[in-house]
Amino acid sequence: MSVNKLFVLPGDGIGPEVTAEVEKIANFLTKEGIARFEIERGLVGGAAYDAHGVAISEDDMARAGAADAILLAAVGGPKWDKVPYDVRPEAGLLRLRKDFNLYANLRPAICYPALADASSLKRELVDGLDLLIVRELTGGVYFGEPKQIIDLGNGQKRAIDTQVYDTYEIERIGRIAFELARKRRNKVTSSEKHNVMKSGVLWREVIIDLHKREFPDVELEHQLADALGMQLVRRPKQFDVIVTDNLFGDMLSDVASMLTGSLGMLPSASLGAEDAKTGHRKALYEPVHGSAPDIAGKGLANPIAMIGSFGMALRYSFGLTELADKLEAAIAGVLDKGLRTADIKGNAPKAISTSEMGDAILAELKARV
Ligand code: NAD
Ligand code: IPM
Ligand code: MN
Repeated sequence: MSVNKLFVLPGDGIGPEVTAEVEKIANFLTKEGIARFEIERGLVGGAAYDAHGVAISEDDMARAGAADAILLAAVGGPKWDKVPYDVRPEAGLLRLRKDFNLYANLRPAICYPALADASSLKRELVDGLDLLIVRELTGGVYFGEPKQIIDLGNGQKRAIDTQVYDTYEIERIGRIAFELARKRRNKVTSSEKHNVMKSGVLWREVIIDLHKREFPDVELEHQLADALGMQLVRRPKQFDVIVTDNLFGDMLSDVASMLTGSLGMLPSASLGAEDAKTGHRKALYEPVHGSAPDIAGKGLANPIAMIGSFGMALRYSFGLTELADKLEAAIAGVLDKGLRTADIKGNAPKAISTSEMGDAILAELKARV
């Protein structure tokens, strides 16, 4: 049985709490000989800053590079609000994404039937929801240059962020979206703001061209990003795959999370280019949520987004599709039994803790493997 090398970066806030639940599951699978995981741990974000004065060390970058998959929980928090900009916790995450060229961020938003009442929307709007946001992750305004604050010398400053997209960046993320749509309900909604942004004009042009050349069988529609935000809360089940840029994808995925009940439910996979020889993609798995400083250290965090991200690693990095299906079924099983962390509690009589939720998912998984 091959060894799957997992590099775990718990990060800050609730990060260590939710990664502990994934490690429980990975260790169980290894112990039982169901799959083999070799776990190494590193520091990222505020934790790395406190230890080394950087957002991620060169040594941990090298270890991340050597792993088969990276699992990162969350970075940041008020403790590091005043640290220099280039070593702020978020810089560690952005470096991992950029240096490993992890341009495709898949953010599925699935509303488990048992949770339809936990959403802030009416049950009938979200029941059965299954959409996928394909967020471009290594370009756009996050990384475009210039990015600076200039002192204008008259008591005024000027802050500049630059949105940059090249054809190839739009084309490769578009291709991922169309390919995934073919395995789902065969529909892609592309979103930008071509009415005000040149990058939106090019985005739309490239997507239309790619669709015509390679994916004429897939249904393609376009929605301006502001209108798409509105449609997400008006009639979310109209969507199958949404493809959009780095910033719009960030915002729209937080919106989509509430359709599923909580930000604590949304996993994600950040994938790099396919290796021509092995077909393997470098990948980082990260929940959509942050370090949740307001609930950190209290056992209140929902570990499902993190466990679901591990499930995506099983699927996309380790080829353990059946096991990924079973893990997802275990999550659904726990929710069907009415077990809830505080964020998805709804009308349930009581909430369980982070580790109780992890244990319950592990117990459901044990019954399935
Ligand atoms: P957040 O996602 O950390 O929290 C937003 C709200 O959602 C909070 O009320 C929090 O308690 C709740 N929440 C988030 N995850 C939860 C979970 N698993 N279970 C239960 N409730 C959960 O966003 P924020 O408060 O705006 O940001 C806090 C810090 O996290 C910032 O420094 C930000 O930069 C960082 N951040 C990091 C990542 C990442 O590392 N991937 C993602 C988003 C934000
Ligand atoms: C996310 C986060 C990150 C982002 C931050 C922490 C850099 O919000 O992964 O959604 O903006 O991409
Ligand atoms: Mn975000």
